Amino acid sequence: MSCTNLGTPEQEEQLRAVTASLKGTPGAIMPAMQKAQGIYGYLPFAVQKLIADDLGVPLEEIYGIATFYSQFALVPKGKNRIGVCMGTACYVKGSAQVLEALETNLKIKTGETTPDGLFTIDATRCLGCCGLAPVLSVNEHVYGKVTAEKIPEILNNYRN
Ligand code: FES
Repeated sequence: MSCTNLGTPEQEEQLRAVTASLKGTPGAIMPAMQKAQGIYGYLPFAVQKLIADDLGVPLEEIYGIATFYSQFALVPKGKNRIGVCMGTACYVKGSAQVLEALETNLKIKTGETTPDGLFTIDATRCLGCCGLAPVLSVNEHVYGKVTAEKIPEILNNYRN
């Protein structure tokens, strides 16, 4: 089955249902974009274009919102999503160094995904386990008292 740049036929159908239901509704742009991201995991260009066309808003507006709010992604996220807590407790205990070690190890910047699609690094807000600071999460798993030295070992858990 071939996929269009609007994803699978099922994804495209879901997206069209979303825009059809929101068309003409004031303030529909954000909910449409959130739902679209839920369907695709990010907002491909073709999806932004379809939302703009269906809701009758300029594509620039959609793109502007997508780049302004960190909740929206313009590129696919990696299979494993790493979040480094930048809340006060974690920051004080060295989360910036942990983040730096991750960037060095994976050769990407925060917000980026490795070329093999395996990891994405994000900086996050307080994860609610400040007693374990500095804290790092990989998908649903939380690692506490992380140091730069522990990064290779943690990453290896997800490499095979
Ligand atoms: S500040 Fe990092 S978990 Fe609260």
